[in-house]
Parts: sequence; C-alpha cells; structure tokens
Amino acid sequence: MSQSTSNLKDKLPPDCQVPAHIAIIMDGNGRWAQQHGLSRLEGHFEGRKATHRVVEACAELGVQALSLYAFSAENWARPGDEVSGLMTLIEQSLREELDDLIGGDIRFIASGRHEELPESLQRTLSEAEARTVDNDGMVLNLLINYGGRAEIVDAVRALAGRVQSGELAPEDIDEAALGAHLYAPELPDPDLLLRPGGEMRVSNFLLWEIAYAEIVVMPVLWPDFTGDHLVEAIEEYNERQRRFGRVPDAE
Ligand code: IPE
Ligand code: IPE
Ligand code: MG
Repeated sequence: MSQSTSNLKDKLPPDCQVPAHIAIIMDGNGRWAQQHGLSRLEGHFEGRKATHRVVEACAELGVQALSLYAFSAENWARPGDEVSGLMTLIEQSLREELDDLIGGDIRFIASGRHEELPESLQRTLSEAEARTVDNDGMVLNLLINYGGRAEIVDAVRALAGRVQSGELAPEDIDEAALGAHLYAPELPDPDLLLRPGGEMRVSNFLLWEIAYAEIVVMPVLWPDFTGDHLVEAIEEYNERQRRFGRVPDAE
C-alpha cells in the first residue's frame, strides 16, 4: 500500500483498547471542496484518499470490522451529476483497491439495497465480495444505498415471510431473530461511531446496530482525515465509560 502508516500503534497509549468495530460516517467532502474552490465531485475524489488511509490504518491497528457509509438511501436526492459521479467513483475505487484488499487479508462486504444500483457497480461489489470471501483479517463493510430504516424494514419483511410460511412463530421474534436478518448479521455491533465533519446527527446510519455505540464527532472534514485523527478518536473512546444501563463500575 502506498502511504505508510507504520508506527501508528506506537501513538496509542499502551493500555489503550482498540474498538473491535468502528463505523464511520464519511462526511464533509462538499465543504472541503467549497473551501478549496473545487467542485463537490472533486471533494469526493479527495475523500477517497482519506478512505484509503483509514482502511490501512484500521487494519494496522487490529480493528476487526470497519463500516464505512459511502452513499445513503437519501443521497439520491442530490444533483444527478453528483450521484452518477459518486457511483463511478465508488466502482472505480473498489476495482483499483481490490488487489490491496486481497493482499491485506481484508474481507470485503457491501450493505444496502444493491438491486437499485447501476448494474456494473452491482457486479463490482459481488466480485469484490467473492474474491475476498476467504480472507480472515479485518472485515470492510461498505454501505451503499444504505438506510438504517430500510434495513430494519427489510429484516421485518424477511421475518414476516418466515412467519407466513409457518417456519417461525410470531412469539419467536426477538432481538436476536431480527438482528439475524440485518444486512451483515455476522458483525458485532459498532463500538465506536465516528463522524468527521462536525454534524451531531446519525443520518439514518446503522440505527439498530449503534444502540450502545460510543459517538465521537470530530470537526475535521473527511478529505483531511488521517491516521492521527483515528488515533485521537480511539483515545477519546478509551476515556468513555461504557455502562450498558448498569451503574458505574466501582473504583
Ligand atoms: C459525504 O460528504 C459524502 C457523501 C454523502 C456521499 P458530503 O458530500 O455530504 O459533504 P458535505 O456534508 O456537503 O460537506
Ligand atoms: C451521510 O452524510 C451519508 C454519507 C456520509 C454517505 P450526509 O451528508 O448525506 O448527511 P446529512 O444530509 O448531512 O444528514
Ligand atoms: Mg454531508
């Protein structure tokens, strides 16, 4: 991989715990472009470089799963040229990064309503999944045409189908059953939800899965995001006390 992030581990305090699953809302490309007098699409091109850096950094730090929000179900409402530019950029990036993913032992999966995506992108996603299926390093989960509510609706539909066929009784529907019908049921829930770009909202991202995630919002715009920002976010995560509804741990 091109950019060296070696020694990133050394930047973390020795007793620092690396989250098993980090989920990132990659936001701020448009504002970055505006600040630099460039088009929004050029901002997305620059954001792609940050994505590369962060995938590399997470793999180096031993993160087990990384979920990246690349295109929301609501992003279709953007201007047509931005939408088609993003589709092309995602497809091209994945094609170009595939050898690195394979070499890095990274397993690629994609989450979202993919049947609504351009066919060539659907093929690229399937190919990347197939060619990395035996990798057992970090899982890279790319969320495209993804909506948290749509994901829950799809899970409920699948459950309703199983009830209708007599395979499942309504009283057997519990959190585990619903969780098993989400897009990536094999992944643990995210421990850390990271949002660069400063917005204090979740924008329909992993609504079910982030129930107990620690949220870190950073002002840095996505194209400016580096391994050092990731280290900063992990340090902030380590300062949190996760309670899951319990009383604080005794000293
Ligand atoms: C995030 O950057 C990328 C996508 C949503 C695809 P934005 O394009 O939302 O950037 P801002 O929020 O306008 O700065
Ligand atoms: C969320 O960012 C979607 C992605 C990063 C892919 P948006 O920029 O679309 O979110 P809002 O519109 O500010 O809530
Ligand atoms: Mg945005």
